[in-house]
Amino acid sequence: MATNEELKARRSRAKAMVLRKSSAGSAVPAVMFAIVIGVLVASTLFLHFDHIWWFPPAITPVGHQIDHQFLLTFIVTGIVFVLAQLTLAWMVFRYRDQGHKAHFVRGSHVLEVAWTTITLVIFVSLGVMAAHAWGEVHFGGPAPGALQVEVTGVQFQWNFRYPGPDGKFGRIVPADIDASVGNPLGLDPNDPEGKLNIVTPSLYLPVNRPIVLMIRSQDVIHSFFVRELRIKQDAVPGLVIPVHFTVNKIGTYEITCNQLCGLGHYHMHAFLHVLSQADFAQWEKKQWASLSTQ
Ligand code: CUA
Repeated sequence: MATNEELKARRSRAKAMVLRKSSAGSAVPAVMFAIVIGVLVASTLFLHFDHIWWFPPAITPVGHQIDHQFLLTFIVTGIVFVLAQLTLAWMVFRYRDQGHKAHFVRGSHVLEVAWTTITLVIFVSLGVMAAHAWGEVHFGGPAPGALQVEVTGVQFQWNFRYPGPDGKFGRIVPADIDASVGNPLGLDPNDPEGKLNIVTPSLYLPVNRPIVLMIRSQDVIHSFFVRELRIKQDAVPGLVIPVHFTVNKIGTYEITCNQLCGLGHYHMHAFLHVLSQADFAQWEKKQWASLSTQ
């Protein structure tokens, strides 16, 4: 039961709320603001549903998994976005200046806890669901018969190294690194295993064969990124970071560097050429043939 004093206090608060100011403000700012929010929501929805700025189709099975996960996250956060913005528009309109005296609202602990918990549950579940696709690229382990290619970032270009016909990579000696004499990776000239290692500024991969890229850096942190692979992996000096995938579409795709790695960062890019298995075998043979005559 409320005491008399409490009832009195409530009555006077209620009275204060309906007390009108001498002049009610114009409704125009509130209406305009609500309309702007409405237009913003509508144009955002249009841009996304129409896929005006969308990424190119994925070319790996994992890429499709990532797209699926992305879409799920997008739908969930999209619904929250639309609801929140429309509520904001409605609130701005509903509680516009109608001449009422403003009054203090203390907020609600129940509501605070509720929406924090809901947000936490949504984000943690999305994260757990996405872990599978991410784990497959990074921890899946190379399939037997996978093609290993070493990817090395250096200010400001990418170099790719393939093993010789024996499947072996030769030793690397940092003191031998010298792009001006055609040895950008520092292959040890005395190591027979490195003799037929192919080093190219473009990445050639066979279609439908498991690939392992071993990503390295010679100087600062770079980032290997191919949109169509849906793979973005930092190249960190001192580490060899493997990523696994299988490409299922022949074509040419751009490889970019995605870490601001210095003044030439903007032009640090290369191309990924996905070839049929026969074309790839032929390319490899040709490279080995020219290396063995050197
Ligand atoms: Cu390398 Cu940016």
